[in-house]
Amino acid sequence: MSTDYPSAHPTPSEAAEQIKPEVAALFNPLKLGDYTARNRVFLAPLTRCRNTKDHVPTEMMNTYYTQRSGAGLVITECTLVAPKSSAFGTDPGIYSEEQIAAWKNITESVHAEGGLIFMQIWHPGRAAHPELNDGVESISSSALRIEGDAHTPMGRLEYTVPRAMTVDEIKGAVEAYVQAAKNAMEAGFDGVEIHGANGYLIDQFLRSSANQRTDEYGGSVENRMRFLLEVVQGVTQAIGSGKTGLRLSPINAFNSMKDEDPVGLSQTLAKTLSDHDLAYLHVIRSNIAGSEGQEHQKAVVAAFTEHYTGNVVLNCDFGGKEGNDTILNDKADAIAYGVPYIANPDLPERFKAGAALNEPNPKTFYTTDATGYIDYPFMDESA
Ligand SMILES: Cc1cc2nc3c(=O)[nH]c(=O)nc-3n(C[C@H](O)[C@H](O)[C@H](O)COP(=O)(O)O)c2cc1C
Repeated sequence: MSTDYPSAHPTPSEAAEQIKPEVAALFNPLKLGDYTARNRVFLAPLTRCRNTKDHVPTEMMNTYYTQRSGAGLVITECTLVAPKSSAFGTDPGIYSEEQIAAWKNITESVHAEGGLIFMQIWHPGRAAHPELNDGVESISSSALRIEGDAHTPMGRLEYTVPRAMTVDEIKGAVEAYVQAAKNAMEAGFDGVEIHGANGYLIDQFLRSSANQRTDEYGGSVENRMRFLLEVVQGVTQAIGSGKTGLRLSPINAFNSMKDEDPVGLSQTLAKTLSDHDLAYLHVIRSNIAGSEGQEHQKAVVAAFTEHYTGNVVLNCDFGGKEGNDTILNDKADAIAYGVPYIANPDLPERFKAGAALNEPNPKTFYTTDATGYIDYPFMDESA
């Protein structure tokens, strides 16, 4: 990708004339590692379960991502770095030639529209279910299960107790992320976002509720960060730090996650990760009800905005105006939109014009056909 603005899209000065002032900061280009994002409205990673059962992307996904290529950065749904580790059944992978070829169609199509696209690389750890993986046991930092049931194509299945990884398995997992990053580049991606959020494998090392190891990968914050930092180091060495992003969610409770000191963990992560010169750090602020929850959220977000020296992408429950103001107040460099982008393939254009947004339909978030996936109307169609 270059820093040129493709003719199909307005240059910043052209755009400035048409942009509602209350969202104008979202449309300043952003230097993002090796690239320049043409705006600061990013597509958050969104699992949509439209791959084959062999974890190969489908033609429908090509349409879906191309429809959303006007984002400053398109971040893909979480994509498996290793076989036999599926958490949703029809989630995508990036470990086979067939998958690389299918993703290549998508990256080519997004690039043809002048878009920038990173793949979110992912290992679910204990969120993988043996029933979805030919009986293969799931793995994690410790032998602790997620409470409750997994939602799978076979219905609800109780999560199983994972096997605690050996040090050799941890090194093997680091290699899997590195190979996945190389495969993503072969598939034409501009970079990768390492998925360190939402209670999946990396987060299962980071946060104390899931990690009870007593070796060098458990106990202190420094030890719990070790696996993440090995992945970051391996991936940045393989494809370059300017092509590498990272997603974290220090207070998201999803997948039975909790930490004894999320603010301390976040501060240490922010300071340590500042040395790695990543394209961006993507933080899910996770809205929590009640004033105590909101204070907590503020402290966690501040840990990153105050201590991280690179680009911060913030996410969770943002509208256009709040996103704009957050950037203007130097609390973030870009905003990632999830659910609003599911329902509005032309979200940046709608923000720009101050147009009404389509309503999302949660019933079709994880279904497997085109309905509720590629049929949300564009602004001119809605009008
Ligand atoms: C249907 C759906 C699928 C999601 N899939 C992913 C995913 O693959 N990877 C990820 O990091 N987060 C995933 N998330 C979380 C979103 O990226 C985002 O953090 C969340 O929707 C909050 O942002 P929003 O308020 O803008 O929607 C998903 C959320 C939803 C609703």
